[in-house]
Amino acid sequence: MKTIVIYNSQTGFTKRYAKWIAEATGADCLELSAAKRKSMEPYDAIVFGGWACAGGISKLHWFKSNIDKWEDKKLIAFCVGGSPIENPEIEPALKQNFNDSELKKVNVFYCPGGFNYEKMSAPSKLMMKLFIKTLKAKKDKTEAEQVMINMISTSYDISDKKYIDPILECLHA
Ligand SMILES: Cc1cc2nc3c(=O)[nH]c(=O)nc-3n(C[C@H](O)[C@H](O)[C@H](O)COP(=O)(O)O)c2cc1C
Repeated sequence: MKTIVIYNSQTGFTKRYAKWIAEATGADCLELSAAKRKSMEPYDAIVFGGWACAGGISKLHWFKSNIDKWEDKKLIAFCVGGSPIENPEIEPALKQNFNDSELKKVNVFYCPGGFNYEKMSAPSKLMMKLFIKTLKAKKDKTEAEQVMINMISTSYDISDKKYIDPILECLHA
């Protein structure tokens, strides 16, 4: 199956997962801006990866706007975020990005990444600062919220190659 992995990454985690998937499958791997200039005609499978941003998936609009054109292809979207895979909010948040008809055509996955404040853009850093400040100011914080504050206040890396296994299974099915 001729496959292409297309990714949008700000600090490198989504790129890392895209490369892992491409290495494991022999797929072509391109950053989104390069992929936009390329014909998807020769591919049987298209894998798109974007990073989680306030419940959304970066650049997902581009991928979704092409779904109807790619009717004959296997479609996979993966999202890379700072939340650990055990977070029960991930599944519903991921699905919210797609309507029922899109979910019938696209296989959706989540891979934990982390935070890298050294590589983050200034606007993103500011958004995170405000988010953490709001969370800290909240009265009666839940234990989960306190854990989250501690976790996202500094850089961390919870990415692991094992998280691509469900994506590889889907590609081979
Ligand atoms: C402004 C902003 C919003 C974010 N929102 C979420 C979120 O809703 N859920 C989540 O799990 N991670 C969230 N993250 C964390 C990123 O998705 C995470 O750092 C990811 O690994 C970045 O991928 P990249 O290195 O490919 O850019 C957010 C990060 C930023 C900067």
